[in-house]
Amino acid sequence: MLAEADKNIGTRNGREMYSSHRAHVTALALRMAHEWRQLGAASVGPSLLVLGAGNCNDLELDELLKHFSSITLADIDIHALNLGIERQGLRTGAGLALIQTDLVPWPRHLATGVTTDFPDGHAACLRMGTHLADHTLVALPPADVVLSTNVLTQMFDQLRSWIAEDDEHFLPLLLMVRRRHIETLHGATRSHAALVSDFVSSDTAKELKLDRCNVLTTARRCLSEGDHFHGTHPEALGRAVAEVCAAPPTLTAPWHWRLDSQRSYLVYACIFAGERDCSIGPGPS
Ligand SMILES: C[S@@+](CC[C@H](N)C(=O)[O-])C[C@H]1O[C@@H](n2cnc3c(N)ncnc32)[C@H](O)[C@@H]1O
Repeated sequence: MLAEADKNIGTRNGREMYSSHRAHVTALALRMAHEWRQLGAASVGPSLLVLGAGNCNDLELDELLKHFSSITLADIDIHALNLGIERQGLRTGAGLALIQTDLVPWPRHLATGVTTDFPDGHAACLRMGTHLADHTLVALPPADVVLSTNVLTQMFDQLRSWIAEDDEHFLPLLLMVRRRHIETLHGATRSHAALVSDFVSSDTAKELKLDRCNVLTTARRCLSEGDHFHGTHPEALGRAVAEVCAAPPTLTAPWHWRLDSQRSYLVYACIFAGERDCSIGPGPS
């Protein structure tokens, strides 16, 4: 079984613990639908594509279906998608579609040996880098609004399962994966995209275990002390987005996602334009 499917089984019945995070992600999507309406004079609502939708615990699909003319949910784990919509009393058809896809142009076949423990590990890492850089991006149905929901750090976990974080090839490969994901979002959206990412967890930032944690103070402390997941610093992500998009991206304020009594995260979204300019501001903090 894929490691991603295994993780999805672990959080399958976690709809309750996702409630505040779901409220943030759903509000973000609704705000983008609203902004899309302000930009044009279309008579039907925008279409939505969600990447990494998994169990759909972070999406209030009923509410979203009222504001989007169609919703496509994409994930490597089709089983999680099917059960996710079923748990919300929905089926495919009538504006709701599911796609099974691996969003990283991973050469999973090249992954064997991509570790410096292997005799030709360096060469394998270089081959993987070249493949990631040159490979055609995964084809996705274009949509007006595209949302990536906490899939980036899972892609980084996939890389981490093959190559140690302290290996000299780790960071360049991780940045390449990030760049390709930004390009995937940019290429799939006809209007604008939001990349939602966790950037630090309570494993290192213990105050995140508290109900009344001061989100902004904790975020500032973690970011200034380098206590964040590789490749997720909001400003660095913003710069990476700016290399791909003409219009500057916007970062939302971070929010606190309490997964369960054991684990919490800080999360933010980076919003950017696809084909057209996007005038979405950072929203309320
Ligand atoms: C942290 S979960 C996001 C939470 C999810 N939206 C939910 O409510 O359950 C990340 C999702 O990304 C998916 N994922 C991870 N790597 C992927 C890849 N390479 N291609 C497509 N989906 C991937 C996982 O299967 C998982 O469903």
